Amino acid sequence: KAGSLWGGRFAGGPSPALAELSRSTQFDWVLAPYDLAGSHAHARALARAGYLTEAELHDMLAALDELGRRVASGAFTARPEDEDVHSALERGLIEIAGPELGGKLRAGRSRNDQIATLVRMYARDHARTIAGLVAHVVDALVEQADRHAADPLPGRTHMQSAQPVLLGHHLLAHVWPLLRDLDRLADWRDRVDVSPYGSGALAGNTLGLDPQAVAEDLGFASSVENSIDGTASRDVIAEFSFILAMIGIDLSRLAEEIIIWNTAEFGFVTLDDGYSTGSSIMPQKKNPDIAELARGKSGRLIGDLTGLLATLKAQPLAYNRDLQEDKEPVFDQVGQLEVLLPAFAGMIATARFNTERMAEQAPKGFSLATDVAEWLVKRGVPFRDAHQISGRLVSFCEQHGMALDEPTDAQYASIDPRLTPGVRDVLTVRGSVDARTGRGGTALVNVREQIRHAPQVLAGL
Ligand code: ARG
Repeated sequence: KAGSLWGGRFAGGPSPALAELSRSTQFDWVLAPYDLAGSHAHARALARAGYLTEAELHDMLAALDELGRRVASGAFTARPEDEDVHSALERGLIEIAGPELGGKLRAGRSRNDQIATLVRMYARDHARTIAGLVAHVVDALVEQADRHAADPLPGRTHMQSAQPVLLGHHLLAHVWPLLRDLDRLADWRDRVDVSPYGSGALAGNTLGLDPQAVAEDLGFASSVENSIDGTASRDVIAEFSFILAMIGIDLSRLAEEIIIWNTAEFGFVTLDDGYSTGSSIMPQKKNPDIAELARGKSGRLIGDLTGLLATLKAQPLAYNRDLQEDKEPVFDQVGQLEVLLPAFAGMIATARFNTERMAEQAPKGFSLATDVAEWLVKRGVPFRDAHQISGRLVSFCEQHGMALDEPTDAQYASIDPRLTPGVRDVLTVRGSVDARTGRGGTALVNVREQIRHAPQVLAGL
């Protein structure tokens, strides 16, 4: 039998191979509720334009509601011969309302404007869910930052010991990128808030239907200004996909640190049993699988984004069937993040930080050498010289197996006369951290300020 939505000019139905290739119900079925909402709005538009009587509209909406119930209960599902969610639901509508009434709904709309709208509705809904889940990760991080506001750890650059920082400061450094991701979603909401419904196949419709009314019906702020743009563009979906990939990347950086910190060699963090896994052969093992899955899935999320961008590249206007490939990558990203984020938030909320071990490591690796140089600068030594003097002190201590505060007064003086015993005052982790009071620095006052401010920023998003 010829394809139900477009059989008229065809002598026969699609070959089995084409049907197999063409079918999208296995993934686009998640759009069914949005398709039905679109049909509701479209039926009302048809009635307003005089193509459905009041009675017909009433019966049409009742039939759509009944179809919605059957879809929700699983009583109505796609058949192998249904090309996509739109075709299947039209078949379902006709089963309930009959071919006479059911056959009227398709006037003035195309699957091209439908699908462009539905994918936006899907993205809009899941953006809200994902933002809520990211907020839970932020909450967990801020809570841990509060608990560990004043606990030092060795801050690193190039993975090498650099300068001591506060654990609160470090955890909050993972909060701000996530808040920016949420800000990106908030900003993106304005662009997704435009409905392509009413664009028809590409050129609009001749029936006097009002796309603006349909848009409002579907909870969009407005309808598209250009029907070609409406049916052919997916930049708004690609932008959503980028934000989801970025969330994954931001999580992966923290995940990588958790994995490293969780090794016996570091011993900085212990993960809760409920958020760790064991080994099927090695009884002693307790593995940071959530962090590893976050790290791994970030690659997958990037792949989804690049796949989508590659699909969009160089497609001539307007709709091409290529655009059907826009959905699976985004559905995949959404599905992955919606299972990853709750586990990740739980892992962070329940992690125990070994603050003693961190504190013990904080001054290692001559991490206070910059403090020596800056102490000299405060005494009028040009930074160029101060850097040299501090470097010679490091070299001396390295040769003698000493920490920076261990040389005698005479040994300090032999390195440089400007290196007076008073330098020992800044050679503590506490002193180093407390001195970094400039805005954004790791001093406790700043950490406290962030702990106050970050939740306010979150609440405003
Ligand atoms: N299933 C298609 C998609 O996901 C929409 C249908 C448009 N098909 C067509 N032959 N114009 O993009």
